[in-house]
Amino acid sequence: MIFRRFLIAVILFFGSLSGFAQENLIINTQNRKQVSLNGTWHYLIDPYETGFYNYRYKEKGEKDPEAYWNNPNPHKKTDRKEHEYSDDYTLEVPGDWNSKDDVFKYYEGSVWYQREFDKPELDKEERVFLYFGAVNYEVHVYLNGKKLGMHKGGFTPFNFEIPQEMLQKSGNFLVVKVDNKRYADEVPTLNTDWWNYGGITRDVKLIITPQNFIQQYALHLDQSQDIEKSIKRKKFNISGYFKLNGPNTSSEEKVTIEIPEIGLKKKVDIVGSEATFNFDAKKIELWSPENPKLYEVEFTLGETTLTDQIGFRKVEVSGKDVLLNGKEIFMRGISLHEEFAPEVRRANTKDDASKLFGWVKDLNANMVRLAHYPHNEYMTRAADSLGILVWSEIPVYWTIDFKNNEVLEKAKKQLDEMIIRDQNRASVIIWSVGNETPVSEARTRFMKSLVMHAKEKDNTRLISAALEVGYNRGKNYIDDPLGEYTDIVSVNEYLGWYGDLPHAKVKSKWETAYKKPLFFSETGAGAKGGFHADKETRWSEEFQEWYFEETLKMMEQMPDNFMGLSPWILVDFRSPKRNNPKFQEGWNRKGLIDNQGNKKKAFYTLKKYYEKKEKEYED
Ligand code: GCU
Repeated sequence: MIFRRFLIAVILFFGSLSGFAQENLIINTQNRKQVSLNGTWHYLIDPYETGFYNYRYKEKGEKDPEAYWNNPNPHKKTDRKEHEYSDDYTLEVPGDWNSKDDVFKYYEGSVWYQREFDKPELDKEERVFLYFGAVNYEVHVYLNGKKLGMHKGGFTPFNFEIPQEMLQKSGNFLVVKVDNKRYADEVPTLNTDWWNYGGITRDVKLIITPQNFIQQYALHLDQSQDIEKSIKRKKFNISGYFKLNGPNTSSEEKVTIEIPEIGLKKKVDIVGSEATFNFDAKKIELWSPENPKLYEVEFTLGETTLTDQIGFRKVEVSGKDVLLNGKEIFMRGISLHEEFAPEVRRANTKDDASKLFGWVKDLNANMVRLAHYPHNEYMTRAADSLGILVWSEIPVYWTIDFKNNEVLEKAKKQLDEMIIRDQNRASVIIWSVGNETPVSEARTRFMKSLVMHAKEKDNTRLISAALEVGYNRGKNYIDDPLGEYTDIVSVNEYLGWYGDLPHAKVKSKWETAYKKPLFFSETGAGAKGGFHADKETRWSEEFQEWYFEETLKMMEQMPDNFMGLSPWILVDFRSPKRNNPKFQEGWNRKGLIDNQGNKKKAFYTLKKYYEKKEKEYED
């Protein structure tokens, strides 16, 4: 009995070190044995964190009956209990609390979520992990009064192991403390132009695994191959790695990789818990926006086979061009926040992803910039299936505390979690390490470190960031020092909205200090959907249409390294910074679609331009 308690304590102690989160991160959870914990949870709102700190502001002891992670149900009528989980106070998971009702609209603080679940049917060897798609922002997780761990970062997944011994047959008391308060030394920091939605904003599930299992892996075209030669020879080089988890992984294990459609079957020896592999494969159809080919891949370890749907492609920079499978591309993009505006909430389901991508396809776009943080996995998997290129980004946004090494570690942890989760998504071709960060020595050191870290972690994608414009010479000369390290030069330009009027655009000549592909990661203007006037009237749909007409004229005279744009933004989105009482009312109105889902006039201007560009780049 004592040893068992000791074992649980050891597992929980290591699990609770937040740094362990991405080390133990399990990927491809949708194809694993699981029990969903989505649904209706109880909640307690706790702005003074009464459930966490005692009256001397010290963290409550594990067994403190007044700690909100302990089961409060009174045993005797004389019991004094000042907290309870009641059916009168419920929230849906996944979901943000801000869209629940006005009580929560602007709430930033702690909310306790609670539900019970029964122990799933388990073999005695099986292991159980509690997996969260994301929780914004800081989370502490307790089961049956014991802490499983904590995590920081509002947009990336994490999981904690639950020793089988901890699970009761029924009534397992799960409590999750979520705190979305903003701090200067977090990622993002205090100041963002998006709504600080709090809550368990993505799926929650129990993942059930064998004693030894494949925890993480990458499978892709080896990016060092000459892709034109491989296409000609119809023989491609595939590489990747496995990371196993389990007590027996020290002994020799074999993982079998099968792609039945092309009759491929390879055995990979695993000595220790990790192994890399490299082999040739014939008859691979490459993934592209025109042909988003995905293969059913089967990974077998012992008695268990894990499947995934994977596409193979090569993306690279060649001089001034970005090549996909050896062919120059032009990115007909659009930026998105992770929001379903018509219902004023975080987007977090498969259905939300298909609605957002429906609008993207209507625009005839072939690329999305998922701003300014990793979106949910339904989005990147939908992009894989639909053939939409993806720019995925961590929220190193604006005035981050660049001098603080702990903040750099937090950013790297989120970068790791983003990369590990989506490294098998062919559609993701760009990792972005930040957006519009003000230039300084410390900032460029911080951002360069993120670029190098991303390159080390994944050499199958381009590394970018939204750089500063006109940092040094002239307003259309791009010489942000960070541009020396990123693979492409990307900036957000708003000439004609922030400064000047749209007709000034056609006079602007763009130049980059770097002989690299140039991309506009944002360009846009605001319009209140349905407000019509002459084109010089700010906030009218006609003004926004004029802005895009002039922007597209400017596109026709860009330097020859210009390879695309992802205008800001597909849909109006909520922002606490947008307070014009007539035209904004807490919404950023740069959407080409308004918050009810109605397309504005500028939507059709951009659509026409993308139809033209598509024809230009057809074979
Ligand atoms: C910036 C920023 C966006 C912001 C946009 C705007 O470029 O990257 O997050 O919403 O401009 O001003 O609307």
